[in-house]
Amino acid sequence: MPDTHSHLPLDVAAAISARRSTKDFRSDPIDPEILDQILHLSTEAPSSWNLQPWRIVVIDEADSRARLHQACFGQRQVLEAPVTIVFAIDQGAWEKDMEPIIEQAQERGAWPPQYCDIARQAIPGGQNALSAMGRLREYAIKDAMIAATHCVLAATSLGLQTTFMNGWREDAVKEVIGASDRDEIGIAVLVVLGHADETLPHPGRVDRSETVHRQRLPRP
Ligand SMILES: Cc1cc2nc3c(=O)[nH]c(=O)nc-3n(C[C@H](O)[C@H](O)[C@H](O)COP(=O)(O)O)c2cc1C
Repeated sequence: MPDTHSHLPLDVAAAISARRSTKDFRSDPIDPEILDQILHLSTEAPSSWNLQPWRIVVIDEADSRARLHQACFGQRQVLEAPVTIVFAIDQGAWEKDMEPIIEQAQERGAWPPQYCDIARQAIPGGQNALSAMGRLREYAIKDAMIAATHCVLAATSLGLQTTFMNGWREDAVKEVIGASDRDEIGIAVLVVLGHADETLPHPGRVDRSETVHRQRLPRP
């Protein structure tokens, strides 16, 4: 297993292969520079119209970790690992974020002016249509899951162990992050981060012939 300080980062393919969900974390802290790099790489994730609806909350203080542990049905990795990251979403943020995002992309030469004008029409149209269908949350969660995946692969590359977590009560997690009263905030996934002495064996996968197809799904 790579050690955070003495090895080069793993490349993407190596990090994908090395990643294993971990329950047995040591309590040692994560180097703040490494954590900062992981957070930077997490927010480098792509998102629909670059709207970045994720709101990422680092939980690394004892009291918050203990409350999060309760919110996660007592899953011990939350208490034992030094950091758990809550990948939340803000379904309403696009309204205030849209214009600065468009202007930044134009200033950087990434979006030509014509494309920016299209975005100014298409983003509200699309977001309002999703909202009317009750699917704004689902679309924001897609983006946050991509950011969480960047986080996990970056952390693995930099020598840490991780676990994605779906096992939590949304209301209780929102309370920990101070968002109980905000309907626009949702929780996509949690990621536990830390050091571990060993990784578990690969648990195996369903045969690829069952999960990967060309052109069409086979009939059941
Ligand atoms: C979205 C998601 C949610 C998960 N939730 C939990 C969880 O709440 N607790 C847990 O111990 N593991 C959780 N896992 C870990 C899975 O059990 C694990 O990824 C799976 O067994 C495959 O093992 P691997 O990650 O080592 O390849 C979750 C994984 C994913 C992707």
